[in-house]
Amino acid sequence: MKDHLTPRSISTLLEWYRTNRRDLPWRNTQDPYRIWLSEIMLQQTRVEAVKPYYARFLETCPDVEALAELPEDRLMKLWEGLGYYSRARNLQKAAKTVMAEYGGEMPRTYDDLRRLSGIGDYTAGAIASIAFGERVPAIDGNVLRVLARVCGSYEDIAKPDTKKKWQQELTPLIPEEAGDFTQSLIELGATVCVPNGEAKCGECPLAHCCVAAKKGLCDELPVKSAKKPRRIEKITVLLIRDGDRTALRKRPDRGLLAGLYELPNVSGHLGEDAMPAYIRSIGFEPLRIERIDDARHIFTHVEWHMIAYSVRIAPEFDGYHGASGLLLVQNDDLHQKYAIPSAFSAYKNFL
Ligand code: ADE
Repeated sequence: MKDHLTPRSISTLLEWYRTNRRDLPWRNTQDPYRIWLSEIMLQQTRVEAVKPYYARFLETCPDVEALAELPEDRLMKLWEGLGYYSRARNLQKAAKTVMAEYGGEMPRTYDDLRRLSGIGDYTAGAIASIAFGERVPAIDGNVLRVLARVCGSYEDIAKPDTKKKWQQELTPLIPEEAGDFTQSLIELGATVCVPNGEAKCGECPLAHCCVAAKKGLCDELPVKSAKKPRRIEKITVLLIRDGDRTALRKRPDRGLLAGLYELPNVSGHLGEDAMPAYIRSIGFEPLRIERIDDARHIFTHVEWHMIAYSVRIAPEFDGYHGASGLLLVQNDDLHQKYAIPSAFSAYKNFL
């Protein structure tokens, strides 16, 4: 790697970053808490999607202490729609550790950061370099793409060993401006050295030292082995309402979408003829049942294929339906208090 990323090409990269960097909210701060939050939100998530969440989150939780003390349902509501909800849980778990073990001050080294919940090699490297100037690498998928192309490497970037190898090779090359170096590689991967062979080599500060640019290999590199196909789950979703209340259910504390609220649903695609008996079996009297739109939602490892029914039930007096674990929630509360994942967004229009 050192033959490609020479001190001179690194200076060119840093200069390019300083003139071309996007003005992003988390780039106008040295506060490690803010940098940490941004890096967690940016995992698997586009910059434009993160911006409004980042701003709203900081209004409610301006510091580690506020995050550590935020009630779970409010935390989930702040994260609603951003996906990968375990990120939010780990963030709070780590905030509690920072309060208990570091007196509320974020740890300042890669090694200490790496021990916190939800902080892996990449995130520890990003925070330590950007907030504290430690000369450590931060290699995510975008940076892997840049390095594979610059070095003309055919190693499979989906393999953990490949990342380890790049970390070791990059570490001795990191300049004193470690934070800008981290961000310059991220920025290059996000705006110039983009995926699917569409790299803008004409604008790239590293084109002069890049094997893929010189040999026209950007559509071949990086090599990334295919993931195994997603499992498909058929689900029947129920919009159960009595007047202005809708039935919700809290998901279990573990697994997919843990602790979030969902529209009640059953595994499999139930026919309309099976619905009245099913609705009675969960303790409600159905007055009208109507099939509504189908929807799909794609998670990392699973795909939900949903059919749905709108079910009008006889008025209930109780808000909590003990036997079925369902809550009947006023529609205003449903929008303001309960975090309902985007998997159900096709049905939010009906609420
Ligand atoms: N993706 C991950 N980290 C980022 C950052 N600091 N700026 C922009 N995009 C990013």
